[in-house]
Amino acid sequence: MKRLLIIANRLPFSINKRGGEFVFRPSPGGLAVGLSSLPETIERLWIGWPGLENERLSNEDKKHITEELNTERCMPVFLSKRQIEHYYLGFCNNTIWPLFHYFPTRTIWEDCYWQAYKQVNSVFCREILKIIKPGDYIWIHDYQLMLLPQLLRKELPSMEIGFFLHIPWPSFELFRLLPWREEILSGLLGADLIGFHTYDYVRHFLSSVCRIMGLEHMLGKIHIDRRIIKVDAFPLGINYKKYSEAVKTPEIKKEKDKILQHVRKRKIIISIDRLDYTKGIIQRLEAFDLFLSEYPQYKEKVTLIMVAVPSRTSIEDYKTIRYRLEQLVGRVNGEHGSIGYVPVWYLYRFMPFNQISALYSAADVALVTPLRDGMNLIAKEFIASKIDGTGVLILSEMTGAASELGEALIVNSNNKADIVQAIKQALEMPKDEQIERNRLMQARLVRYNVSRWSNDFLHVLSEIKKTQNELAVHKLSDTEKQNIIDVYKERKTRLLLLDYDGTLVGFKSKPAQAGPDEELLSLIYNLSNDTKNKIVIISGRDRETLDKWFGQLEISFVAEHGAWIKNKTKEWLCTHHLGTEWKSTIKPILEVYCDRTPGSSIEEKSFSLVWHYRRAAPELAYIREQELRNTLLNLTENLGIGVFEGNKILEIKPVDINKGRAADYFISDKFYQFILAAGDDYTDEEMFDTLPDEAYSIKIGQGISRAKFRVDTISEMRMLLKELARN
Ligand code: G6P
Repeated sequence: MKRLLIIANRLPFSINKRGGEFVFRPSPGGLAVGLSSLPETIERLWIGWPGLENERLSNEDKKHITEELNTERCMPVFLSKRQIEHYYLGFCNNTIWPLFHYFPTRTIWEDCYWQAYKQVNSVFCREILKIIKPGDYIWIHDYQLMLLPQLLRKELPSMEIGFFLHIPWPSFELFRLLPWREEILSGLLGADLIGFHTYDYVRHFLSSVCRIMGLEHMLGKIHIDRRIIKVDAFPLGINYKKYSEAVKTPEIKKEKDKILQHVRKRKIIISIDRLDYTKGIIQRLEAFDLFLSEYPQYKEKVTLIMVAVPSRTSIEDYKTIRYRLEQLVGRVNGEHGSIGYVPVWYLYRFMPFNQISALYSAADVALVTPLRDGMNLIAKEFIASKIDGTGVLILSEMTGAASELGEALIVNSNNKADIVQAIKQALEMPKDEQIERNRLMQARLVRYNVSRWSNDFLHVLSEIKKTQNELAVHKLSDTEKQNIIDVYKERKTRLLLLDYDGTLVGFKSKPAQAGPDEELLSLIYNLSNDTKNKIVIISGRDRETLDKWFGQLEISFVAEHGAWIKNKTKEWLCTHHLGTEWKSTIKPILEVYCDRTPGSSIEEKSFSLVWHYRRAAPELAYIREQELRNTLLNLTENLGIGVFEGNKILEIKPVDINKGRAADYFISDKFYQFILAAGDDYTDEEMFDTLPDEAYSIKIGQGISRAKFRVDTISEMRMLLKELARN
């Protein structure tokens, strides 16, 4: 049976040592909760840090912990005190966490943090390599392990590796601040599938990949080296039944009654989070304070139960926020309380499931207003717990959950007046309306629950692996080559679609107008001399160049990637009818880049503009190419014009001009018994896509391709053509 390795910084349990005894407790945070409900049908092993520092553990302790964890299908990765300080508290929670949650001013940039992050990712990699078995597949979780996919990829090139980020991916403007941004992106791109909670995070990630790594995507797919990677959104769901069923049990009903008895007839608002500055707890309490000031009639009528779960307590920012919160709780209670009425019940502690579930059930309103949150499962759990349909969720638009829970009262968590109004509306909302809103959200949460989330993710992961295998182009063997020659010999009508640059000649002459060598000309002549053959040179070059170089031969041409077609000796035919007005906007921009990048030049074709930078200084050209591409991508977005990267060129052309359409013109013109197409770059992929199943297609060089076969070099391609010409 296939075994799934779940790799996360945290195991689903964190372990504490109390008086020589080890206490196992569920880990805080959405990740552990989410994954603990993976379907039983998946055989799995969870690998992560047990939450204790190495120095506090004897060898005996470690053995004991390992054995205990084994029974729960977990394997510990032990970390030292220094690693915890620099990797976990440092890089993870003082660098990535604040930056990715849009708190750049709280972000600490420390090289020793980064070094520790690299080191711990390698420790995880080593531990995994020790236990991995053939057939296993890997699912890595969250921001603590963003280098791990690439580290594993190096050791296990064909391994199925998925990565899911549980926090937001920030916009490029924020992400670019990170000094180690390229390393982080390369680390992640080692995965086959990269998942985020929302499409916004996907969009931000893809834009970082494009702007920093220069890698474009096509519908969320990125081609890198010989692999294709998918990036997609998988909003994390909850174990819906666990919450909706729990509130029916006698234990939880009893807990709920206890709460109601203590609160008496007052309305209950709940606020439950890990104590973290991203959760907007202070702002939320300030809004509650304002609410009681603006609507004093609610004093003594409403209680805010505020649970703050201790988290990352040795980090300064977390200490400060606790201090501020506790001061504020005191002030609000002092100001709005009376004998027998405490407006805010503040609980700073871990809360077991039963109590949380009872709170959900007892509450009239859940106030969930993080300043930023990757998803937020509290909001979802609250809705799932409201089995009679009543209860109101107030939800920050800055959470991932807001994109799924649109029927909640959505607020801007920085806007106190907005929250105040939402509290009032929630407390006064008619029951029917509450039920109506909640039923819609419940239906959605039932459907997209945590097993659906994990199943979807793992399904897409295996699909992308299949696609990768299909695209891993098979090198043309001698037997297959002979087979092509034999079939060619037999057939009476044959079509040869041949790309020029990179397929028949090397790149050295590009964009110089050196033209084809004698050997190539005579090869094409010999092939075209056979009346059974139709030869088409299918190129990105312009008409004049192709006429000048091959005009004397009786062959057909496609120029400018399909904008022009010339069928044997007939006239050039224009296939494209859109205007070229866009050129007058784009050309001046290219000219500026030419001036700023010595050695680069512009080539103008009738339907495209090309910026060549082969002769420019490589470092400068690389920077300029990225700048130019970003500028152009923004400008061309809605014009039907695309920016395409070739070998040391950027080509700007209408997206509907492509070699696929041009190839189709010849293929559908007449029935050919033998078709062979050869090409080397992305423009030729469209041609390969158009070919009928029985056609032969050959890619020259490395990389993934739709072609059936691959040869390494241009001379190998020429050799094959020579052998065809001989028969
Ligand atoms: C968030 C993160 C998790 C993390 C959890 C608790 O949910 O996405 O990766 O485990 O917070 O934080 P901690 O620092 O205690 O692991």
